[in-house]
Amino acid sequence: MRHHWLLVGACGWVLLILMFVSKFITFTAIDDYGERLGGSTESGIKVVRPVLLTYTEKTLTKPSYQPSAVPTMEDWQAVIEKRLELISTVCKNSSLRNLTHVPISKFVLDRIFVCDKHKILFCQTPKVGNTQWKKVLIVLNGAFPTVEDIPENLVHDHEKNGLPRLSSLKPQEITHRLNTYFKFLIVRDPFERLVSAFKDKFVKNPRFEPWYKHDIAPAIIRKYRKSHRYSDLAASGLHFEDFVRYLGDVDGRRRLDQQFGHHIIHWITYADLCSPCEIHYSVVGHHETLERDAPYILKFAGIDQLVSYPAIPPGITRYNRTKVESYFSGISKRDIRRLYARYKGDFHLFGYPTPDFLLN
Ligand SMILES: *[C@@H]1O[C@H](CO)[C@@H](O)[C@H](O)[C@H]1NC(C)=O
Ligand SMILES: *[C@@H]1O[C@H](CO)[C@@H](O)[C@H](O)[C@H]1NC(C)=O
Ligand SMILES: *[C@@H]1O[C@H](CO)[C@@H](O)[C@H](O)[C@H]1NC(C)=O
Repeated sequence: MRHHWLLVGACGWVLLILMFVSKFITFTAIDDYGERLGGSTESGIKVVRPVLLTYTEKTLTKPSYQPSAVPTMEDWQAVIEKRLELISTVCKNSSLRNLTHVPISKFVLDRIFVCDKHKILFCQTPKVGNTQWKKVLIVLNGAFPTVEDIPENLVHDHEKNGLPRLSSLKPQEITHRLNTYFKFLIVRDPFERLVSAFKDKFVKNPRFEPWYKHDIAPAIIRKYRKSHRYSDLAASGLHFEDFVRYLGDVDGRRRLDQQFGHHIIHWITYADLCSPCEIHYSVVGHHETLERDAPYILKFAGIDQLVSYPAIPPGITRYNRTKVESYFSGISKRDIRRLYARYKGDFHLFGYPTPDFLLN
């Protein structure tokens, strides 16, 4: 009799433990799934069935999934349409005309890449994940079967990667494509972009591009550092303050910019890069909302069945005011205001708030 009750008790415990463990296993399985998806796509864009929902799933830390909290494609379409309306309104504002209207020059056509097979034009704006988009288009154009097959040194070699620039076509072909293709670009907060360009090109410079430190930085220092001795030049490198003074000097920097050639794409305005008042873009993505914009762009370009954008590590696209403030601290209000005067067109066109915390 006693044995009987012991057996029942033991069974009860085993059952409880099993329930607990099974629950635990289900949770880790979900986690693994999320991790696996992230891991498999992080290295580059997979040309496979899209995994668009990974972004929203990954950002949910609790398993209580609420579909209503995730905007649908239609909701997002309204956001995109608002952005386009704002651009068209700001383009009509005559007091900003200088800063927003840029003729479609050879320089602008050089920035735009062509995917004929899927009728897509992409205007390149560095520091917002452009390399990923270029890889997508290279694969879609057919020069390489998958993103992993593209050698890193070929991504930016437009002689060999099968991703032509719009400038390489005849005028009639250019007009036809501008009028009929799906066109997009990605932007981010204009000042945070400058901080990012400065860090990438003059502080870290992880890809070996010696001309930024050896040619461009000394030229800017010579013209814009308030006080300098020869030893300064060699030792300390470009300061953010020098960079800000150079960027805000609309007339004075013209000759330098000619000398710097196409390297200026990392810091000239989005208006100068992509002529957003002259070219009617179909979508303008924001780096800050790339998790939503990337799937939207793929869908509306009609390529969401062919490619997916790699998982975006959480938090890296978020605007970081602390970082911007720390770079601009110690720079005179006069210099910051001049800089803003130069980039005001971009702030207005793309709906970024005026950085009053730096200007006043
Ligand atoms: C034009 O832009 C300026 C910003 O520089 C703004 O103050 C003004 O309200 C705008 N005008 C219209 C009609 O939106
Ligand atoms: C437009 O450009 C002209 C010439 O560069 C300049 O004199 C004028 O002040 C600019 N206007 C605005 C609103 O920036
Ligand atoms: C923002 O930038 C600061 C300074 O660079 C950094 O310490 C901080 O971790 C960043 N915050 C986030 C949320 O990334």
